[in-house]
Amino acid sequence: MLNRSRRLRTSLAMRNLVAETDLRARHLIQPHFVQPQAGSTEISSMPGIVNASVEETVRQAEKDLKKGLASVLLFGVPDEAAKSPDASSCCDHAGVIPQAVRALKKAFGSDLIVMTDVCLCGYTSHGHCGLVDDEGVVQNDQTLPILAEMALRHAEAGADVAAPSDMMDGRVAAIRTLLDENGFTQTSILSYAIKHAGAYYGPFREAAHSSPKFGDRKSYQMDPRNAREGLRDALLDVEEGADMLMIKPALPNLDLIWRLREAQLAPICAYHVSSEFSSVKAADRLGWVNGDQLMYEHLIAIRRAGADMIVTYAGREAVEKGWIS
Ligand code: PBG
Ligand code: ZN
Repeated sequence: MLNRSRRLRTSLAMRNLVAETDLRARHLIQPHFVQPQAGSTEISSMPGIVNASVEETVRQAEKDLKKGLASVLLFGVPDEAAKSPDASSCCDHAGVIPQAVRALKKAFGSDLIVMTDVCLCGYTSHGHCGLVDDEGVVQNDQTLPILAEMALRHAEAGADVAAPSDMMDGRVAAIRTLLDENGFTQTSILSYAIKHAGAYYGPFREAAHSSPKFGDRKSYQMDPRNAREGLRDALLDVEEGADMLMIKPALPNLDLIWRLREAQLAPICAYHVSSEFSSVKAADRLGWVNGDQLMYEHLIAIRRAGADMIVTYAGREAVEKGWIS
């Protein structure tokens, strides 16, 4: 037999020599849920992940940074009382996210990449990602200035990257324009370019208290039956000034990660979302799978499909448990 593929699988050293993909700490972005209350609150559907005060968030980020986990993505979990139909508290200079950004930047400076979620759903009383009219229809153009102002507040606090996840049309251009007008030309935009509607975000919404109170998100998030729709939108985001592009959820969209990689050159980020994480944890608890191994295989598949970086709740475990090379 002339060709024996198994020759290159004989030992770990040989397999390492020919490995095409790897997972490194620098590829991982750890999400944080930041609450105004002191201490931390567990999230039942996401073992190991908590809603944490600014202080706790800084403490956790410091531990992670020591292990090489150098990027965070922040989500605000404001008090119910602070929510309103127009999400006005999302633009508050003293809000929990600007506070957290200032604290993280003060503690770690340029050693830590601080990304912030830009979306209204955590701040609206109705739970939608944009303003709604009397008929309950989510309003695109009226939402844009609020998103831009929210991103500006984060940039003023020192955020490195604004990550709009709302799925309004034209938000990247609106954010880029306002940031530039205010001198924040160096603040990057990581656009959620391809984001499908559906059941994948359930545990996140428990954590962030951000479920819509009526209807669903299908008039703004994408239809999972579509691929070209997402690619088209992603290319528009680049034209509007997006520096990096996000695809989510990750595993159901490996085809899109691959196709977007081929279609253009900007860095691609995949979001291994809450239920992708939680379902591994649940199956592990039932004793049905080896959760650590399965989680690693999720992450490596996402890298192999072409993602440069991955937002994952398993980031901390990956660096602690040695899944990274
Ligand atoms: C807010 C937002 C969501 C996620 C990221 N940003 C939830 C949603 O769109 O309802 C989901 C992330 C996850 O499930 O881990 N727009
Ligand atoms: Zn939202």
